[in-house]
Amino acid sequence: MTVAQQLEDVRAQELEWTPTEIAELCESVSRAPSVHNSRPWTLTLHRRTAVLRENPAALMDHDPQGRDQRISCGAALMNLVLAVRDLGWRAHVEFGATSGLVSAVVSAGEPAEPSPREQRWARSIPQRHSHREPFSRRPVPELLREKIRDAAAGPRCGGRWVGSAAEAVEVARMLSRSAHAFHADTGYTRELTGWATPEGRKLQRASGDLRGLAAVGLTALTTHLPDEHVLARLLREESVLLVGTRGDRAVDHVHAGQAVERAWLEATSAGLSVSMMTQPLHMREVRTALAESLGTSLIPQAIMRFGYPAEG
Ligand SMILES: Cc1cc2nc3c(=O)[nH]c(=O)nc-3n(C[C@H](O)[C@H](O)[C@H](O)COP(=O)(O)O)c2cc1C
Repeated sequence: MTVAQQLEDVRAQELEWTPTEIAELCESVSRAPSVHNSRPWTLTLHRRTAVLRENPAALMDHDPQGRDQRISCGAALMNLVLAVRDLGWRAHVEFGATSGLVSAVVSAGEPAEPSPREQRWARSIPQRHSHREPFSRRPVPELLREKIRDAAAGPRCGGRWVGSAAEAVEVARMLSRSAHAFHADTGYTRELTGWATPEGRKLQRASGDLRGLAAVGLTALTTHLPDEHVLARLLREESVLLVGTRGDRAVDHVHAGQAVERAWLEATSAGLSVSMMTQPLHMREVRTALAESLGTSLIPQAIMRFGYPAEG
């Protein structure tokens, strides 16, 4: 081998991800939240770039338009970017689409220290999980609510807290209406029950025991639905954030997923528990009515609930 070839080999190696970097990138992406835990993406790593591609999960009854699939990809992309930053690289993101499926190429640029906030979010990735149980009655402090809303804010997307008692009543009415529709939807329940992964079956079993707001976010035939008054009370007691986007194209759904994950990691880093739901928002009329009653121009993409875990 000539000296020039040897030099080229060394340079090529310098341009590759190291095994430790590969482990962190793969682990961070696999820990992202996803619809029915389907992880509807593929990740390819090559020459200090990471390519995340939407990989259809085929949830025909639950997600016929692929909205949740793309929101899931956005959450995975957020974790990927945070992992690249945590490894000490600047992260350049380029969005694309092939045959109607979105993709994002993340390239590690020059070395750059992550900010304290990025470090905090990256460290919270392994701790983040869905908490569908009730919360304690301790309210989330206003300053923390501001930080969570700031975290959700991004390009053409943002968050809006459900605030007043009147808003809570309106939102409860819509959530109750959509939950009753899903309660009667045998196709949706069949999809959950017969779904090919143990996670899907676990979620279907869990849906029977859910109470409160979580029950209207994962409704199947066996779910016990709370009445509207209980929902309205919970909407006031728990901190409930609507995450929305300015547009409703495929890339907007990816941005929504990024926003959801940032808000979730911010909350996790402060010791809060979180769960999210999109099921009610699959009904167009619920999306429209929700935006109207909250007086927001954001297109609703996800509803997140935040609180301190109940003790014992
Ligand atoms: C796009 C999207 C939609 C989701 N929709 C719901 C939902 O409607 N109800 C619910 O209880 N959880 C929902 N989840 C949460 C997932 O079920 C959860 O992230 C997944 O099962 C993995 O569990 P983990 O969050 O504990 O890691 C959703 C997550 C994503 C990313």
